[in-house]
Amino acid sequence: MKGVILAGGLGSRLMPCTKVTNKHLLPVYDKPMIYYPIMTLVNAGIEDILIVTGGNHAGEFLRLLGNGKEFGLKDISYTFQEGEGGIADALKLAEHFAKDEKIFVILGDNIAEDNVRAHVNDFINQPKGAKVFLKEVPDPERFGVAVIKDGVIISIEEKPRDPKTNLAVCGLYMYDNEVFDIAKNLKPSNRGELEITDVNNEYIRRKSMTYSILKGWWTDAGTFESLFKASCLVAEKCVRKD
Ligand code: DAU
Repeated sequence: MKGVILAGGLGSRLMPCTKVTNKHLLPVYDKPMIYYPIMTLVNAGIEDILIVTGGNHAGEFLRLLGNGKEFGLKDISYTFQEGEGGIADALKLAEHFAKDEKIFVILGDNIAEDNVRAHVNDFINQPKGAKVFLKEVPDPERFGVAVIKDGVIISIEEKPRDPKTNLAVCGLYMYDNEVFDIAKNLKPSNRGELEITDVNNEYIRRKSMTYSILKGWWTDAGTFESLFKASCLVAEKCVRKD
């Protein structure tokens, strides 16, 4: 399985910090944000990684990460998203890289404590479809929110005003190769983006979506509140280790 990190977008919720750099290069405690999704993939045994980035500061990723030697990688692939067409728009750029393999997609601003290697192995054995990770959160209206019935996901709503559950869909997704055809047929949402939730709902419609509950803590880091929370969680973990 190959890994794809989506690190495009404008990071407008972190202005003015993102005026002079890419959101995913901002620090989360003692490391640039992008280090965490890379470590999640590497710890899950995925070593063939594509970073999709964009904007004015894309070159800085190469300066920071090079060929990924620091992570024990032989190399890292990079590609560039023009504009900010949404998560599913960024994902489309991974088609050439994925070839016929399944992919593990992680949003560049998602930080997870859990080692997801066992789930990756489960998905390798899943004959087809997709798998998402869910996590109970106190503020589901900020996320895609899943509804489960009889152990099966029956729908995901993107940032509902009145969430039906407190199960957030984390920004870690596993897909088979059909994801690219699904993404190509999407229509932009009200906010003008190709939504990953629409991709996931199509897999639900096809009855080929599974899920796992993510253990440990998980957060995004795309707002000042969540960026601060992410730094605190990572710092606590480092202190516990020492
Ligand atoms: O964090 C998990 C949540 O991420 C999910 O629960 C939601 O269903 C999903 O839509 C997403 O919500 P956000 O609105 O928080 O996503 P955001 O626009 O902040 O984008 C998250 C990452 O995706 C960002 O750090 C980089 C990448 N991205 C985003 C856009 C809009 C791109 O690579 N290109 C883009 O055009």
